[in-house]
Amino acid sequence: MSFTIVEQAPARLNRSELAVPGSNYRFLEKAADSAADVIFLDLEDAVAPDDKVQARKNIIKALQELDWGTRTMSVRINGLDTHYMYRDVVDILEQAGERLDLIMIPKVGTAADVYAVDMLVTQVEDAVGREKKIGFEMIIETALGMANVDEIAGASPRNESLHFGVADYAASTKARTTVIGGPNPLYGVLTDPPADGGERQFHWGDMWHYAIARMVVAARANGLRPIDGPFGDFSDPDGYKAQAYRAAVLGCEGKWAIHPSQIDLANEINSPSEAEIDKAKRILAAMEEAQREGKGAVALDGRLIDIASIKQAEVLVQKAAMIAESA
Ligand code: GLV
Ligand code: MG
Repeated sequence: MSFTIVEQAPARLNRSELAVPGSNYRFLEKAADSAADVIFLDLEDAVAPDDKVQARKNIIKALQELDWGTRTMSVRINGLDTHYMYRDVVDILEQAGERLDLIMIPKVGTAADVYAVDMLVTQVEDAVGREKKIGFEMIIETALGMANVDEIAGASPRNESLHFGVADYAASTKARTTVIGGPNPLYGVLTDPPADGGERQFHWGDMWHYAIARMVVAARANGLRPIDGPFGDFSDPDGYKAQAYRAAVLGCEGKWAIHPSQIDLANEINSPSEAEIDKAKRILAAMEEAQREGKGAVALDGRLIDIASIKQAEVLVQKAAMIAESA
């Protein structure tokens, strides 16, 4: 283990993160009844310029008046390159009360962007005497943001999570796609001609693999939660599930839901199964016994487990406990 200790962000369930446009109060009311772990109320790209002021008012009212239960509440502010952003922060923090937990910073490009929002948030928190310190979620969705992802992840003690914003990322990198998330049939490999003269096969690849894996490393190295962003085709649950599983396998803890039908899918995919929890508990029990006997590694079900297995198992068991508590 390094002598550098990585501070972990506050433990929160973040299996699903529901995006809700602030411009429609009815959507905000409906979101309050959803099963999402985290809800972000949007002031940014789902809100047209003419609706920004009303959306801010709606979000303030919704945070004050609706019952959000135990969910984690976030507001996505406008980008630092707009003239909306300062008032998003000031009005929301001054007027929305203590229910808000997080601010989501879109299109973050450099550590200085995070620093600037931190400065503003800190001033308002101090001025109005807010009790709860606001945390930050940052969307990595530009080439600049990805190039600076390590510095961004470490830019503020408020940082809690990094999110992969595939739509803006595709636009920023000029990737050849017009859909929001999902594979591209042009991205793949053609197998060599088989010796028996059979047909060559084309295997689709995941054009987002590098971006997600890169973000996961930056997030984990800084104790943050990596979260996969949107999948636009909400009439394709199988496509959503495939995207969510591949992000989870790489280390993401959750995925956005841009439609209520995606929430249960995200919760299910990002929850450990009964079998996984059972196995983790058996690993912990076996390792406890091994340590009592002065051994560093033992066999369980014919496979080697060692001290590293304890950490993996503990993460799983802790998550299961948080899920049980939230139910
Ligand atoms: C999210 O904001 C995205 O651009 O994908
Ligand atoms: Mg975006």
